[in-house]
Amino acid sequence: MDLEVELDTHFGIAHTRWATHGEPSALNSHPQRSDKNNAFVVIHNGIITNYKELKKYLNSKGYEFESETDTEVIPKLIKYVYDNREREDLSFSTLVERVIQQLEGAFALVFKSHYFPGEAVATRRGSPLLIGVRSKYELSAEHIPIQYNRYVIIKKVALFKVTSDTSGDGKAVEYYFASDASAIIEHTNKVIYLEDDDIAAVVGGKLSLHRLNSLAGENPVRAIQTLQMELQEIMKGNFEAFMQKEIFEQPESVFNTMRGRICFHTNKVILGGLKDHLKEIKRCRRLIVIGCGTSFHAAVATRQILEELTELPVMVELASDFLDRNTPVFRDDVCFYISQSGETADTLMALRYCKDRGALTVGVTNTVGSSISRDTDCGVHINAGPEIGVASTKAYTSQFVALIMFGLMMSEDRISLQPRRLEIINGLRILPDMIKKVLTLDNKIKSIADELYQQKSLLVMGRGFNYATCLEGALKIKEITYMHSEGILAGELKHGPLALIDKHMPVIMIIMKDACYTKCQNALQQVTARSGRPIILCCQDDQEMSKNAYKTIELPHTVDCLQGILSVIPLQLLSFHLAVLRGYDVSLPLPALSLWTLIT
Ligand code: BG6
Repeated sequence: MDLEVELDTHFGIAHTRWATHGEPSALNSHPQRSDKNNAFVVIHNGIITNYKELKKYLNSKGYEFESETDTEVIPKLIKYVYDNREREDLSFSTLVERVIQQLEGAFALVFKSHYFPGEAVATRRGSPLLIGVRSKYELSAEHIPIQYNRYVIIKKVALFKVTSDTSGDGKAVEYYFASDASAIIEHTNKVIYLEDDDIAAVVGGKLSLHRLNSLAGENPVRAIQTLQMELQEIMKGNFEAFMQKEIFEQPESVFNTMRGRICFHTNKVILGGLKDHLKEIKRCRRLIVIGCGTSFHAAVATRQILEELTELPVMVELASDFLDRNTPVFRDDVCFYISQSGETADTLMALRYCKDRGALTVGVTNTVGSSISRDTDCGVHINAGPEIGVASTKAYTSQFVALIMFGLMMSEDRISLQPRRLEIINGLRILPDMIKKVLTLDNKIKSIADELYQQKSLLVMGRGFNYATCLEGALKIKEITYMHSEGILAGELKHGPLALIDKHMPVIMIIMKDACYTKCQNALQQVTARSGRPIILCCQDDQEMSKNAYKTIELPHTVDCLQGILSVIPLQLLSFHLAVLRGYDVSLPLPALSLWTLIT
């Protein structure tokens, strides 16, 4: 590439993403290209599951691949379709339409081509994609219609009273394509959320949307929504990283999850998004709570209390495994989808799977307008505010609180459960202050990180209400410190993991004063008998623990089923400090896909 050449272009694409296929390198990064002349270039958020078959086919047609990515089949495929087109005047969007019919998996894609200068085409299936529109001129429409014309050059729909060709100031309209509103909010708060298989094209400064076929009952327009998100909400202020900011926001974010939903005078809990479905939920055969990563851990953390308060069997499921097993689902099941983003592909696929089987679907997401919040029958927004940090923190504690509120709502008319409900509601009332107290431990936790950061591995052990904290703490450590970490159920210690314990292996144990206290003490004895030097997360003033620990982190005591909200915070802080000490940049302010177009 000649870096000296000056380009006059008003459309650029760029992408930040984790390397999922192949090592992080220039060749494996995006955009991926069709050939050395960049006839077509593409950025992609998601995964193409049939890329091997497509690659084999394209190889057989003489197309040579240069990267290890799944994405590269897409620019190659569009070039193939272009090279073999039956008519000269096929539009860029028609080419894209033909390409996506061959793709399996999840994707948000943006295409650029030197055969179609200044044109942008974007599409999605399973991965999120939105269009931001900015103009100093007033919009002439609140929605744009979908064009269903197959293989016809699409009619252009003017969005603005003044369009590029009449303004003359060279900046009449700007379009931004991004996976998340936080990537573009500093430029515009007007957005259009695309649905699966929508194709958006910007040609000659005008945006049009089209689809191959219309489906029965489908909305024939896409609304232009005005977001209320404030710029400062997504900025990181004085913190070193978004993750750190979000950890420290938790007193406010959990409060916002409860705001207007729990009345601490009447002890009533009302989740507006669920109240019309409550009768149906109460009649169900079981609850299935589905998520990935941290969101799955929120389900594990609340399973026991949900079983207790709803008196229903509760299954917690990793979305990918749930799908792999073709899990039986019935019409009288209620399925919850937990997701910060509301866009995680496996969780979305599980949602579609259960919908097809007639179950009632309930979303628990942080992202208004996300696919999960739109596609479920009902749901709860956790209202934690935008989560920019790659590692989920405040969304976890807010998901936790939202699920507990659901349990409280379900048990309102159960007389025998009233003392328990009251205890939990009182615990929730003072939860933000308790979280503030835990956050004051930051310096102590930093000093523990100073001791641990050169270690290769870190085990986190606990059981009962705190088992999920072990899983979540270990996930945070793996995800951002690149250190091996494992969350171990203390009840399983004697069935294998004990073999790992010696004086060199760092172990964190979570031992709270709850029904599992004595059992955890047994596990502690086994660890110390093997010369282990446990760092114990325990309740304030637990002398017994102080005697046996290498170090203690003392936490305020709360109701057993809420304790996990407090015990996860030291592990969030620890993983943050470990990552910084190990030299990693934990802040990834831009979401996975960030790209813009500027049409003048
Ligand atoms: C993974 C992230 O990709 O998705 C995890 O690395 C996250 O941190 C998981 O917990 C699920 O995301 P979501 O948006 O569905 O809660």
